[in-house]
Amino acid sequence: MIFVCNNSVLSGMSANSIALYFDSMEYAIQFDNLEKSFGSLPVLKGMSGYVNSGEVLAIIGSSGCGKSTLLRCFNRLETIDRGRIVIHDLEISKSHLSSHELKTVRSQVGMVFQQFNLFPHLSVLDNLTLAPQQVLKVSRRESEDRARYYLQEVGLVDKADMYPEQLSGGQRQRVAIARSLCMEPQIMLFDEPTSALDPELVGEVLAVMHRLAKQGMTMVVVTHEIQFARDVANRVMFLDQGQVAEEGIAREILTNPRSDRLHTFLSRMRQAQLV
Ligand SMILES: Nc1ncnc2c1ncn2[C@@H]1O[C@H](COP(=O)(O)OP(=O)(O)OP(=O)(O)O)[C@@H](O)[C@H]1O
Ligand SMILES: [Mg+2]
Repeated sequence: MIFVCNNSVLSGMSANSIALYFDSMEYAIQFDNLEKSFGSLPVLKGMSGYVNSGEVLAIIGSSGCGKSTLLRCFNRLETIDRGRIVIHDLEISKSHLSSHELKTVRSQVGMVFQQFNLFPHLSVLDNLTLAPQQVLKVSRRESEDRARYYLQEVGLVDKADMYPEQLSGGQRQRVAIARSLCMEPQIMLFDEPTSALDPELVGEVLAVMHRLAKQGMTMVVVTHEIQFARDVANRVMFLDQGQVAEEGIAREILTNPRSDRLHTFLSRMRQAQLV
């Protein structure tokens, strides 16, 4: 339950030092020249990039630009047509993964979706213990201990015996985060985890993610929350027209975007969110 590195060491560092710090780190995810089409619609048109261990990467871009598709490729919920994806040492883009390799990917790379995807007929505790028992073959006792530990982490240990429909949207999303953490992943992918929530519930979910980041969890977050990206992400990647149009240190490129396209995108977001 101890994560790889502590993001809090980054606070107060200059942009240059942060760049050097990350240069010295190992990659959690590397992706090269990814191409992916849905029928005749090309969505990923040669995307390349990386995620360092222990960093928070925010992915931003207009609706339909391929953010979810890219994220889903990182845990093989989606396959690519061409290119290469390596998670730590495992190339997950090869055409055939053994069941052991697939299990490794699914357990090491957790994912939290916009719509929570909790099982409605299971209690919160059973939602959390299911995958560790079935996929990781963890004992019932240990899976329950884990579940209570992570429910405590997201501030919901008193909801263990409730059912998803008895919770607020923010609570359901925190349960979904705890459920992912119960697999003890090394990387967490978040696909717009707050965009289905009422505005007053967004803060509690972002607070949980902020705490995870401080503990050093490697996180890739697709988000429209530009303020959150600026405060919590180390780097930001801006996708446009099927490519990584710009990437860099979060507070730099969100404050001084280099390309007109990112500038225009941020202005639009600012108008919508008043950030
Ligand atoms: N399974 C699919 N079958 C066909 N087309 C798809 C599929 N998944 C995504 N697409 C298309 O691929 C494009 C990229 O979709 P994607 O969901 O990755 O966008 P996004 O950047 O996440 O958008 P949003 O911000 O609205 O969530 C869209 O045009 C979408 O309609
Ligand atoms: Mg999406």
